[in-house]
Amino acid sequence: MERVISGIRPTGNLHLGNYFGAVKSFVKMQDEYDCMFFIADWHSLTTHPTPENIRKSVKTILSEYLACGIDPEKAPIYVQSDVKQVLELYLYLNMNAYLGELERVTSFKEKVRKQPDNVNAGLLTYPCLMAADILMHKADKVPVGKDQEQNMEMARLFARRFNRIYNVDYFKEPASFYFAHKAVKVPGLDGTGKMGKSEGNCLYLCDDEKTVTKKIMRAVTDQGPTQLNQEKPEVIQNLFTLCELICGKDAAEYYNDLYNNMQIRYGDMKKQMAADANALLAPIRERILAYSSDDALLDRIMRQGAEKAAARAEKTIEEVREIIGFRKV
Ligand code: ADP
Ligand code: TRP
Repeated sequence: MERVISGIRPTGNLHLGNYFGAVKSFVKMQDEYDCMFFIADWHSLTTHPTPENIRKSVKTILSEYLACGIDPEKAPIYVQSDVKQVLELYLYLNMNAYLGELERVTSFKEKVRKQPDNVNAGLLTYPCLMAADILMHKADKVPVGKDQEQNMEMARLFARRFNRIYNVDYFKEPASFYFAHKAVKVPGLDGTGKMGKSEGNCLYLCDDEKTVTKKIMRAVTDQGPTQLNQEKPEVIQNLFTLCELICGKDAAEYYNDLYNNMQIRYGDMKKQMAADANALLAPIRERILAYSSDDALLDRIMRQGAEKAAARAEKTIEEVREIIGFRKV
């Protein structure tokens, strides 16, 4: 079975965009591939979080992924910093990564521009750590968004380079696995193109019923169509896209017919969206609460995930040490 690995940045709460755009695909993938998921907490150190930040965000993201249906029996989920073998591979990859190529990575250049006061070495070698995560497990496929393509190219480059330097055929080049082009782009509640944390237009999976209803009822609309079969302005098209995701095709078609006949009442459409969003989110929200209040369970899941990941990682590290010329420890 092909091996899939994905790193999850522990930033904030999951929203509907993350859910329809990524997490739902992960849940499906765990039945089709030999999957592993990990929370990339070492990567998060580039922004200098406090210990409290780290503990809280790891717990949050873990509870939310589990609540969405990631099943640790099918797909181990672990915390990156629990698997220390990754650091050793990171060191070896750093030795074969060149300053010029690391400086040319677009996301690094962006960070230099956005946070000139914190251009740390961890940012520069971010692609080495990511490659270590992936190569460690000999992953065939890595589900990533387009923004990660350059990091994936670096991972492939480091794999090839290692093989060339040591004249071995050891690391395989991991393929990028785009599910994003198949998955829908979830629009924001403010009528803009994309739901995103930084846009402040999100419906979060952990939002309570009242908040969900309030956010949806306030979603941006216009005065309504003034002609039969009128083309929809972007904000309205976005509301319909959200409606189809939340309420399904039939409901979206029903409101589409009303729109075309100039009989649409956005209030009614939103009421149904709010009711259906709450029906979708209520069980997820309940599970988030259940997981996040059960530290012992979370701890057990993290520990079991780390054990499985460390067993694989240890084997890789032993082989890599042998290839490089280090003694067995
Ligand atoms: P945010 O934009 O809120 O910071 P992230 O960049 O952390 O979200 O998203 C993680 C993953 O979730 C992305 O790789 C992408 O696949 C998915 N995703 C995020 N927002 C959306 C969206 N609005 N529509 C579809 N997928 C999304
Ligand atoms: N860089 C990824 C992101 O920003 C997170 C990540 C770290 C990752 N290591 C990984 C993703 C390994 C896939 C595989 O989203």
